[in-house]
Amino acid sequence: MSATSEAVHAFWVAGRPATGEGTFEVTHPYDGRTVGTVSVPTDAQVEEAVAAAHGAVAAFSATPAHVRAAALDHVARRLGERAQEIAELITAENGKPMKWARGEVGRAASVFRWAAEEARRFNGGEAQRLDTDPGGTGRLALTRRFPRGAVLGIAPFNFPLNLVAHKVAPAIAVGAPIIVKPAPATPLSALLLGELLAETDLPAGAWSVLPVANDKMPALTADERLPVISFTGSDTVGFAIQRQVPAKHLTLELGGNAAAVVLADYASEQDLEWAAGRIAVFANYQAGQSCISVQRVIADAAVYDRLAEKIVAKVRAQVTGDPADEATDVGPLVSEQAAERVESWVADAVAKGAKVLTGGGRQGASYEPTVLADLPADAILAGAEVFGPVLTLHRVDGTDAAFAAVNDSAFGLQAGVFTHDLATAFRAHRELEVGGVIIGDAPSYRADQMPYGGVKASGTGREGVASAMADYTYERVLVLTGLDL
Ligand code: SIN
Repeated sequence: MSATSEAVHAFWVAGRPATGEGTFEVTHPYDGRTVGTVSVPTDAQVEEAVAAAHGAVAAFSATPAHVRAAALDHVARRLGERAQEIAELITAENGKPMKWARGEVGRAASVFRWAAEEARRFNGGEAQRLDTDPGGTGRLALTRRFPRGAVLGIAPFNFPLNLVAHKVAPAIAVGAPIIVKPAPATPLSALLLGELLAETDLPAGAWSVLPVANDKMPALTADERLPVISFTGSDTVGFAIQRQVPAKHLTLELGGNAAAVVLADYASEQDLEWAAGRIAVFANYQAGQSCISVQRVIADAAVYDRLAEKIVAKVRAQVTGDPADEATDVGPLVSEQAAERVESWVADAVAKGAKVLTGGGRQGASYEPTVLADLPADAILAGAEVFGPVLTLHRVDGTDAAFAAVNDSAFGLQAGVFTHDLATAFRAHRELEVGGVIIGDAPSYRADQMPYGGVKASGTGREGVASAMADYTYERVLVLTGLDL
């Protein structure tokens, strides 16, 4: 498959390629050209995939660990072998600059490699003696984890490969069948991942990739044969699913307006260069379309002016343009509509009194890396997730005020704290209402084996290979009696 293929892309039903009724086009966000035509599954094919997943639960869960680990290792290896082609595909369907697309393929390979390792370690069983009371004499409890059932994985457009990998690899590792529904704007990477999964010996029914339209999703999310839903996307959609199916096991990875805090002790020239550089890169990587891209800089008044000057210079130095160009740092957003929304939110902030320090222009789907100061509290940008290359600067007095500002948000995904003080690092870990605190770096740092997820409107549950494996399974105790302990 080439990054500009004209062929109709098949989807995957219970591990086999299939075409359905009708097609839709995937277009390049940068220049609008068609990069793929995707076949749409019929209702009958969706039913076939769900029935196959449900029917495979018991057998897949019982597959030997070496079978699941070998399949995961195979996919990790093949992602490495086809890395350049897949990176080009990600860039074509998502508009992500090549350097970041290549990074995404590397991360996805590492997710599958980690899942293979975790599959080998998983479920050794924990023994607990029960003869601590007379009634338990000769008894032993053995606890193992078993899949809750088949998983419905709903993936977003911003990491069309790696956030699919984060749903698929842990499911295979625990032996839970999974149906993946990729984002309508970016299904091609997930469909290509299907090619690699099809090369393995995984049982039929273990996985499907279905590019179904969003309006078909309520029926799928409601289906009782899919008791686990792993969703990454907007808080609006995530919480709508939660309201629809409160009894299901949900992992919701929703948005954020991540803060980078720069405290007064982070004040040397070298410190501020580092902090400003990391903030400028991670406010704009993937055009700000990451749930943990830096949206808010909360800086102590002692360092604010020097830091702001450096941030503006480094944001201006970000190279914008064609994402296929190796030199490009910041490409387009996923669509012109997305860029228009960002433009309107900046206009709203400026109309209410915010100052544009750099940026603020739009061309098609591309929005200039932008820095705002003096953001009024009633601006849309003050509360909502921008999901675009826009950074707001906030001056505070002291650590108490800085941490209060981080927590003054409906969201709580990750926060970055630039400090050298160990006690402050522990305090941040204790006080910040987020799923992850990164010391000495931007909030955007993520290693794929780490637990990843949020609190408040950022969602519930955790991804990260081992965490997702725990989320997809539940403990079941086996009590053995009559033992000579
Ligand atoms: C996300 O946008 O939630 C994913 C961020 C990442 O995996 O780096």
